[in-house]
Amino acid sequence: MSGFSINEYHDTAEIYKKIGHLMSIPVYSITKDAMSQYLRYFDERCAGSKEMITEAKKFIPGGVQHNLAFNHPFPIVIDRADGAYLWDIDGNQYIDFLQSGGAIILGNNYAPVREKILDLIKERGPVTGLFSEFELKLAQEINRHIPSVDMFRMLGSGTESAMAAIRVARLATGKKKVIKMGGAYHGWSDQMMYGLHIPGTGSYEAHGVPGGCRKHTHEVFPNDIDALRKKLSINRIRGGTAAVIVEPMGPESGTRPLDKDHNKQIRELCDQHDALLIFDEVVTFGRIGLAGAQGYFNITPDLTTFGKIVAGGYPAAGGLGGRRDLMEYVAAGIEGGKKRAYVGGTLAANPLSSAAGYYTILEIEKTNACEKAGKAADRLSKGLEEMIDDKNLPFVAYNQGAICHLETSGTMFVRINKLKIKSVLKEIGTRRHFMEEMGAAYMAEGIVTLAGSRMYTSMADDDAVIDDALHRFERVLSNVERPIVSESL
Ligand SMILES: Cc1ncc(COP(=O)(O)O)c(C=O)c1O
Repeated sequence: MSGFSINEYHDTAEIYKKIGHLMSIPVYSITKDAMSQYLRYFDERCAGSKEMITEAKKFIPGGVQHNLAFNHPFPIVIDRADGAYLWDIDGNQYIDFLQSGGAIILGNNYAPVREKILDLIKERGPVTGLFSEFELKLAQEINRHIPSVDMFRMLGSGTESAMAAIRVARLATGKKKVIKMGGAYHGWSDQMMYGLHIPGTGSYEAHGVPGGCRKHTHEVFPNDIDALRKKLSINRIRGGTAAVIVEPMGPESGTRPLDKDHNKQIRELCDQHDALLIFDEVVTFGRIGLAGAQGYFNITPDLTTFGKIVAGGYPAAGGLGGRRDLMEYVAAGIEGGKKRAYVGGTLAANPLSSAAGYYTILEIEKTNACEKAGKAADRLSKGLEEMIDDKNLPFVAYNQGAICHLETSGTMFVRINKLKIKSVLKEIGTRRHFMEEMGAAYMAEGIVTLAGSRMYTSMADDDAVIDDALHRFERVLSNVERPIVSESL
């Protein structure tokens, strides 16, 4: 399909088979010698980062502001971003597969968009609090690419977008309950702090969130359509489900991939139960395609949440789109007497973010960026798969368009057994430690990944960049060894 980064849908059953095997054996490790060499890299070549992060720890909780920046053994301080690369303050160069957490598809600091933004700042100023032409232009572009989005309201983040979507769904349906997929991430609002990262974890990470805030949130396992049907039926006698919210490629940007027809089955169940379907396209809009994952799957959700690429990698990236009758609930203004889902944000939809989103969409279309980033990801994941086979490793590599996964530890696949919670937590700890070590090893070899297990590609990743990355991955994978102790998991 043209315009999309996915060339071939993955074999979901095969991926789960491989992950099943990975989870059935003890976790691998990096050889002691190699790991101490990698750690030496940080001490010897990243002294500036170390010093700055040590200082930052005095003033910033944990030393960094962003969850994805928290790297082992300490976070790297980035000085410059350009195209496929990042440079840290010590002058080391990295291939950037984080792409600002998936917010960038044209490559870092893409000049044609940057020039427009610089002109805007110089000639017009970045923010006013009043309407700018770019708000209309962005909404029109989104509407042109995504038929389900009659109307669009820009917000400050993906988190806010999910909050707004749920509020609209509750107001429109008069129902309270919301069902999400276990493991999925829809931001950090009180009501969505449920079943994060690993399905079945419920409120495990909801520290500081009173039970009442997530009383109406439920989770079901991805690909378990019977569980969703059951949950919808039970909810029916308890006041009903306002919405089912999904990450359309699967929880955690497809870390748990979905059967190809799963979204369609969910749509059908929503219709049967008069629940709205919310597609969280925070990651997928502009990455799977400008028509979103919904365009790829040919599904019409009622509401769509946006983030990341919607502001072209510039700040304040969020938005809610959908059917006109639903979107009218978030109409701005001070008209009294009408029920509305209140949303806001002082700097939401500012000229800078709206213009960055607008020009980015034009550039993505003009350059075929999604297809190019998808081709790069295909090459990367094929190369990794071959490497894994050659080395007879139990790791799993696959991609969904411009989202690549390299599962070496299976941390998010640990089965939750509340009766054996101590050993479950121990296993998560062991697997996470290996994942962190792999992340450190990739970094020392000059590759920035997302948490040592995910890679977002961009249009800047040409064949030479990918082949260079594969050589670097090869060095890391040559340094892993089978576990000596065969503990049973
Ligand atoms: C699928 C998904 N939804 C929502 C969010 C939250 O977006 P934000 O970080 O802009 O609040 C994220 C962030 O990574 C995400 O991946």
